Amino acid sequence: MLRDGALEGQTIIVTGGGTGLGKSMGKYFLELGANLVITSRKMEVLEASAKELEEETGGKVLAVQCDVREYDQVENVIKQTEEHFGQIHGLLNNAAGNFISPTERLSHRAFNIIIDIVLKGTTNFTLALGKSWINAKQPGTILNIVTTYAWTGSGYVVPSACAKAGVLAMTRSLAVEWAKYKIRLNAIAPGPFPTEGAWSRLLPGDLVKKFDPANFVPVGRVGEHQELANLAAYLMSDYSAYVNGEVVTIDGGEWLMGAGEFSHLEKIPQEMWDMLEASRGKKG
Ligand code: HXC
Ligand code: NAP
Repeated sequence: MLRDGALEGQTIIVTGGGTGLGKSMGKYFLELGANLVITSRKMEVLEASAKELEEETGGKVLAVQCDVREYDQVENVIKQTEEHFGQIHGLLNNAAGNFISPTERLSHRAFNIIIDIVLKGTTNFTLALGKSWINAKQPGTILNIVTTYAWTGSGYVVPSACAKAGVLAMTRSLAVEWAKYKIRLNAIAPGPFPTEGAWSRLLPGDLVKKFDPANFVPVGRVGEHQELANLAAYLMSDYSAYVNGEVVTIDGGEWLMGAGEFSHLEKIPQEMWDMLEASRGKKG
């Protein structure tokens, strides 16, 4: 979508960048000329993805193991990146954990683990890199991946909803507070985009057949990874320099369909509309 070389010379860290959407967004950053750093807990996954991404794009990828819950590990990613590539320009907070469950069935540890990965992980990276940018008087761009239930809330994924709402609040708050340091923050709220990580935890077993996510999207399909990558690259690039503190939804209209009071009238067949129209009489 963006012109060739739109991210040339930029170094971007993608948390959770070895799998799923993080990997797809990272791939497009590489295609646009960026240097990429991918981090997560599983080094063997990161190394395999780094190799694959380098071969596919010809770009440079650094894989650094990091549990985003651990602040010293986050600081180590920043140090390794600066030693390897020099100045850091962008951060994509994409790492997450999630599962479905009635909330009363969750242990407090299960609740906490999602808050720790999603909210604490995102604040850890944002704080560590923000401090480093401010000290060095360098500008920076932060993009946070949330979800549409960050503002609607949602049953059965309550820890994730709490955590993503916190990430959105932080995005908007720091967009204002850190603008004076030339640090810009935005968020993306994706609807359903198939990934192994999300589908295995949110649609386990037969659920995928019973609750096909495409059925809840007005445009009638799930998202394509490149569609999300296009938006992420735009928000990471200087083309969006005047977009700050925004959350952009990319969900084919999914959340609005759930919110609209009469959206369920979609189920009324044309013949019934014909009958309703006839019964109220035509006035020419
Ligand atoms: C209830 C669960 C559970 C489940 C684990 N737990 N899975 N409780 N339902 N399905 C509980 C465990 O019993 C344990 O509590 C505690 O959570 C920690 O579990 P561990 O397995 O020890 O944790 P860990 O190995 O660190 O794994 C973390 C994880 C795992 C979050 C549980 O799923 C993971 O690694 N996820 C990372 C990737 C991911 O989730 N991707 C999907 C993102 S999709 P006790 O009390 O027994 O010790 C997404 C989409 C949002 O965010 C929007 C969609 C539209
Ligand atoms: P995914 O492939 O499971 O991605 C999650 C990533 O986070 C993994 O690479 C995982 O790697 C990493 N991670 C988990 N815990 C971590 C920790 N403690 N420290 C560091 N890294 C950790 O799932 P995805 O679907 O691509 O999700 C990516 C993002 O999109 C998430 O923020 C998710 O909430 C969001 N999202 C997805 C959808 C969708 O439909 N797919 C919809 C809305 C929002 P390790 O296991 O190696 O640590």
